[in-house]
Amino acid sequence: MEKKANTIGIVGLSFGDEGKGKITDYLAQNADIVVRFQGGNNAGHTVVHNDNTFKFHIMPSGAVLEKEVIIGNGCVVDPKVLLDEIENLEIGGKKVNLKLSSTAHVIFPFHRDVDGLEEKFKGEYKAGTTKRGIGPTYSDKAARFGLRLYDLIHPNLLKKKLENLYEINKKIIHCYDPTWNKELDKIYEEYKDYGVKLKKYVIDTAYYLNKQIDSGKKVIFEGAQGTLLGIDHGFYPFGTSSNANATGISNGTGVPSNKIGPILGIIKAYTSRVGEGAVPSELENEIGDQIREQGHEYGTTTGRPRRVGWLDLFNIKYSVMINGVKDIAVMLLDALEGIDPLKICIGYEFEGEILESWPIQPEIVEKCRPVYKNFKGWDKRSREEWSSIANNGYDALPNEMKVYLDAVKEYLDVDIAIISIGPEREDTIILKEIF
Ligand code: IMO
Ligand code: MG
Repeated sequence: MEKKANTIGIVGLSFGDEGKGKITDYLAQNADIVVRFQGGNNAGHTVVHNDNTFKFHIMPSGAVLEKEVIIGNGCVVDPKVLLDEIENLEIGGKKVNLKLSSTAHVIFPFHRDVDGLEEKFKGEYKAGTTKRGIGPTYSDKAARFGLRLYDLIHPNLLKKKLENLYEINKKIIHCYDPTWNKELDKIYEEYKDYGVKLKKYVIDTAYYLNKQIDSGKKVIFEGAQGTLLGIDHGFYPFGTSSNANATGISNGTGVPSNKIGPILGIIKAYTSRVGEGAVPSELENEIGDQIREQGHEYGTTTGRPRRVGWLDLFNIKYSVMINGVKDIAVMLLDALEGIDPLKICIGYEFEGEILESWPIQPEIVEKCRPVYKNFKGWDKRSREEWSSIANNGYDALPNEMKVYLDAVKEYLDVDIAIISIGPEREDTIILKEIF
């Protein structure tokens, strides 16, 4: 038997919402620490336990199991959202064991306003953001105007640096809306208070995490969004502002890549997409509606109905390469029940040619025609029947599903480590123990 890893990265291989939260929660049973390394409260990670549903936006999903959780330097933090999530966990009787990177950047109310206004201005190039201020906060970080959590918890630094950040954002906002008027003093008072509340969690997490890993602690790096939404290797400009893939782990935590274990890639049995940008395998018909209902494809963060389509293995193959993935988890197979035939996209045709690899440029992707392979679908079953199948393991899966999974495995040249056929932790089948 293969040696189990001490650290593992969990990343989405498509456009987010692959089920990273559920898998993180499942593997967290064997972990000491769960770390978020990029993104902010644009994420929506759902964990279901004994009929209780927990939805996290910034808190790592390991919090449900009262594991130690860390928000790394690569994240952007909306302090109010974080404090609400801490409070909700505590109200639910959970002990919160949290550490925050002193160098993670802070989201302010004007970042949210800039987000909304810039989206409108971008017209056909808008990404359909979550309007949580993610992009503008990362912009200010890169422009070196931004405030870190270290500044937030030191009122004198907060006061001094916020003034600058406020003025520059006000200038931007006034280009779009000259009537905008949020008072600096009020923002300062509000954020000073957040700083007081968060101070006890803030440390140098890079140093702390390296020490913990060196002493043998088991660590999960929980990705947010998905590889195809990543700023460098995704579908720019229709994605998010961080590296939502394994390359983001090192710079988002300060843990060097030689200490980061295998990367588990998460995919759904079909494609879903919130926001804008071409999706060649999109289903704008009754089959799409059926998958949306059966998969409950409505955004955790914004409630938007998600666009859905056939599984696109062609773009996922690109993500497998970027992440160095050898093992994947396939989620929501139950949501394809009662649909026959099923199709999987296995290539793109562009101007009469079959492309060799996913073309990354939106201007090309929007002109591509997906090439499909057909598969026989599986029948509808009750929730109880799916749970009992999960209980009995791989052999109990419908034959058609096994054929579908074999095709995924073969095309991507990976092992399928985990299969999920329902929302609960128990609806998970483990084929390979990697962590
Ligand atoms: P989880 O972690 C799906 C999408 C938005 C938009 C683009 C940019 O739950 O998988 P942003 O607010 O980040 O500037 O929006 O990225 N997006 C997501 N889509 N799941 C997510 O997170 C997402 N986070 C952002 O819809 O197209
Ligand atoms: Mg989500």
